[in-house]
Amino acid sequence: MALAVRPLKADELRAALTLFGAAIHRPPADDAGWAASARLYSPGRTFGVHADGALVATTTSFPSELAVPGGAVLPMAAVTRVGVRADHTRRGLLSAMMRAQLDDTAARGEPVATLRASEARIYGRFGYGVATRGRSVQVRADASPLRPGAPLGGTVRLVARDEIVPVLQEVHARIALRRPGGITRTEGWWAIGVGRRVHVEREHVLAAVHTGPQGDDGFAIAYPGDIPGLPRRCLDVADLHAADVAATAALWRFLLGVDLVEAVQARLRPLDEPLELLLADPRACAVTGNEDETWLRIVDVPVAFAARSYGAAEPVLLAVHDGFLEANSGVYRIADGSAERVGPLGGPVRPELECSVDALAMAYLGDRRPSELVASGWWSAPEPAAVPRADAAFATPGVPWCGTYF
Ligand SMILES: CC(C)(COP(=O)(O)OP(=O)(O)OC[C@H]1O[C@@H](n2cnc3c(N)ncnc32)[C@H](O)[C@@H]1OP(=O)(O)O)[C@@H](O)C(=O)NCCC(=O)NCCS
Repeated sequence: MALAVRPLKADELRAALTLFGAAIHRPPADDAGWAASARLYSPGRTFGVHADGALVATTTSFPSELAVPGGAVLPMAAVTRVGVRADHTRRGLLSAMMRAQLDDTAARGEPVATLRASEARIYGRFGYGVATRGRSVQVRADASPLRPGAPLGGTVRLVARDEIVPVLQEVHARIALRRPGGITRTEGWWAIGVGRRVHVEREHVLAAVHTGPQGDDGFAIAYPGDIPGLPRRCLDVADLHAADVAATAALWRFLLGVDLVEAVQARLRPLDEPLELLLADPRACAVTGNEDETWLRIVDVPVAFAARSYGAAEPVLLAVHDGFLEANSGVYRIADGSAERVGPLGGPVRPELECSVDALAMAYLGDRRPSELVASGWWSAPEPAAVPRADAAFATPGVPWCGTYF
């Protein structure tokens, strides 16, 4: 079968959503669900493969931006809704779509792409690597949950249902790019990520905004939930962003103090969210999981290298191997706070360290140190003395995190 990948037209997108839904074992959207879901599709960014006149594989992306260490923001393709019909898997359809999509991303001048992976073994071969992670927490609720010395923060107010999307959208836009790994959200993301639950499914929702000295600087969205196996009422936090620890503390204090709630749980929280330092009883916080969050594909390595900042370090020569987008392969010199390509692979410039582009993504935002990547075999070190220099160059002050699921 010829694997002809082509962009899908607007009137083919509902079939694409239905195909993706079936691939993740979800029923087709009804008209209201489709109206919300349709908004995530961005013109010209959806690809499909047909067989016998039927769509059998699809992927899409929406335009976003990614904050990188040092504060620069790169145009980004947010890849999502990837699915192959169950009777057409393992025949190379995803591989063909990834090729078309990465070529399209490069042609659009988007130097990075990110996605969330349903399974960890799918995307590494296409050059995606885990670049941010998160932890799941379950926190026992209490009338006075935070220790007396915890930051008080400002005020927390509930937002009326009709105001949730416009108000939170603005707060998110203001704070999300302050941390490496943060991304921008489109109107379509809000329509599907929040609007569908709040307006289409009319779920009960608690949406709260924190106001600090500089104005609104944090928010939380939570829905009633269950804890499997326990007769507890709980709140499921779907979204919580805060500009600083004071706003974080105030939002958690609010959530944990809501009446008739015995626990608050949340997935994919930042690894450095200081809950245990804030709680009166640090054991009230159980870490129930650790997951990969952002899978990052560096589509244009020279541009991505030039965009981020570096710590003070003696020069490092790093070879990057990219079998899928060969133009990225080469030896890069990181020195004096910047990075540039100084030669081809196998040329006269001998690298001190070597990695594949997916393993570069693991260090790029600061999630993993080069030394741990060398120790675990993700990177190699022909010149071991370069490892501490690379650690110093790639070091970032905080932990990268995104907080936007798509
Ligand atoms: C994941 C999925 C998109 C893969 O599509 P596909 O067309 O079967 O992938 P390909 O045939 O191009 O596979 C390319 C390679 O990846 C491997 N691969 C693909 N999916 C894999 C998986 N889930 N686990 C492990 N390996 C996988 C294939 O074995 C193949 O390896 P090879 O080159 O060594 O032979 C498809 O199985 C699917 O739709 N799954 C359900 C929905 C889903 O999980 N979507 C992803 C959302 S993030």
